[in-house]
Amino acid sequence: MNAKPAPDELDLQAQEAVREMRRQAEKLSDGQLDMMFRGARSFNGWTDEAVTDDQIRQIYDLMKMGPTSANVCPLRIKIIRSDEAKAKLKAILFDNNKEKTVQAPAIAIFGNDHAFYEHNAKLTPFRPTAIKERMTDNPKMIAPWANLNGTLQAAYFMMAVRAVGLDAGPMQGLDKPAADEAFWAGTEVKTNFICAFGRGNETTVFKRHPRFDFDEACELL
Ligand SMILES: Cc1cc2nc3c(=O)[nH]c(=O)nc-3n(C[C@H](O)[C@H](O)[C@H](O)COP(=O)(O)O)c2cc1C
Repeated sequence: MNAKPAPDELDLQAQEAVREMRRQAEKLSDGQLDMMFRGARSFNGWTDEAVTDDQIRQIYDLMKMGPTSANVCPLRIKIIRSDEAKAKLKAILFDNNKEKTVQAPAIAIFGNDHAFYEHNAKLTPFRPTAIKERMTDNPKMIAPWANLNGTLQAAYFMMAVRAVGLDAGPMQGLDKPAADEAFWAGTEVKTNFICAFGRGNETTVFKRHPRFDFDEACELL
């Protein structure tokens, strides 16, 4: 995907769109950075404020713009809100996660589609067969590509939840093969993790765990 063809009309339009966006966009304020990163927490309980269809669509429409390898989009999401769907999920959650999860107004089940390359022509229309050929010629690449890019997309989803002013509670404590059976039967989608979201109840937040400082994790070369 790295060959550099001469820019065509669509490339020039894309470049102008970046210039225009830079003219309009402002930096995030300190408060917005707190909301997205520094002050945001993983929640273990929720108010009963509903999460609307509009909010879920807004979260998806932000998430879907995050970058992935060659624009593959393996993430599939089941959004659980009904009592029936919650009962199905509850049965396969690890015990510690059961009550707090089904109490959430919404829960996203993130699955990675291992047949992601079948959508090559839609997602990279200017090179409509390259990824599919690469994956079918090298099947060992399929799972790492599905997992890397699906997990990136799920992380973008959590940040989009925060960006629209809601809170997230990610979890991987569930029986994933059972989740595959219950929610993705007949597909190549494999459960990755889940994320409760809504308005978090601050009385369910624990003391913060430390993070590595810059010098412990990064090296300037
Ligand atoms: C992929 C993933 C899986 C997690 N699984 C669980 C889980 O099964 N149960 C749980 O209580 N918390 C789970 N967590 C929550 C983490 O413990 C929490 O996000 C982390 O400690 C950071 O907390 P903070 O965001 O409040 O600083 C998970 C988080 C992530 C991102």
